[in-house]
Amino acid sequence: MPGGVHAPSRAAIRPKTLRQDRYWVTPALTVIGLTAWVAYATVRVFLQSNYYVAEHHYLTPFYSPCISNGCLPEAAHFGRFLVDHPLIPYAALSLPFLLLFRLTCYYYRKAYYRSFWLSPPACAVPDGHKSYTGETRFPLIFQNAHRYTFYLAFVITLINTYDAVLAFGGEDGFGVGLGNVILVGNVIMLWAYTLSCHSCRHVTGGRLKHFSRSPIRYRWWTFVSKLNTRHMQYAWITLGTLALTDFYIMAVSAGWFDDLRFF
Ligand code: FES
Repeated sequence: MPGGVHAPSRAAIRPKTLRQDRYWVTPALTVIGLTAWVAYATVRVFLQSNYYVAEHHYLTPFYSPCISNGCLPEAAHFGRFLVDHPLIPYAALSLPFLLLFRLTCYYYRKAYYRSFWLSPPACAVPDGHKSYTGETRFPLIFQNAHRYTFYLAFVITLINTYDAVLAFGGEDGFGVGLGNVILVGNVIMLWAYTLSCHSCRHVTGGRLKHFSRSPIRYRWWTFVSKLNTRHMQYAWITLGTLALTDFYIMAVSAGWFDDLRFF
């Protein structure tokens, strides 16, 4: 028996949708944006060059933590213990978990279900597929692992913060340049994205019966809830800040231009 908008209990409407607006613009832009970002990130991760500016200790987040035997010793803040191979990213310890964190993110799920999978493309527009099984079966049931990837992403954001702090001490001692501003801006936005996660909201305020008996958790939950309302924006902004940070460090490292130094 057909389900969804074709279920017998639903009104039989001949046109595919009654929506007259350009509802397809958002899914189309999502496809373009995500595809472009994934293409850029994939190329950069496997380039295995121009990821560190030794003079200012700038390390791109795409190579953090740098744990491969191929990493420059100065860039390997946590040691080098991974086999050096062109098909193994230098940050192979963090990148898979970050990918899983974003893939299972509530917002990104909505984004790619609507745009790539047309399931459904928009409200009041039928699903692009005949059947709909949701996230209750293999493989999408694994989306429920999101809460665990949150803990790992939290640790990786701490590592990115550590990298940003180290970048204030270059070869000539303390200094501040445009690279520092970009690294710190990226880390602030990464925290905004990570802490605004729905799982974080549950960690801070979930399973509580009486907020009045847990005032500190209530405060954290209020703070995280406010951030949570902007989770989609942070999801996109961090894609931008990550790519910008990586590109800037690649450009300075490759000698395309010098870092703008403030002092
Ligand atoms: Fe988006 Fe957790 S990171 S919901």
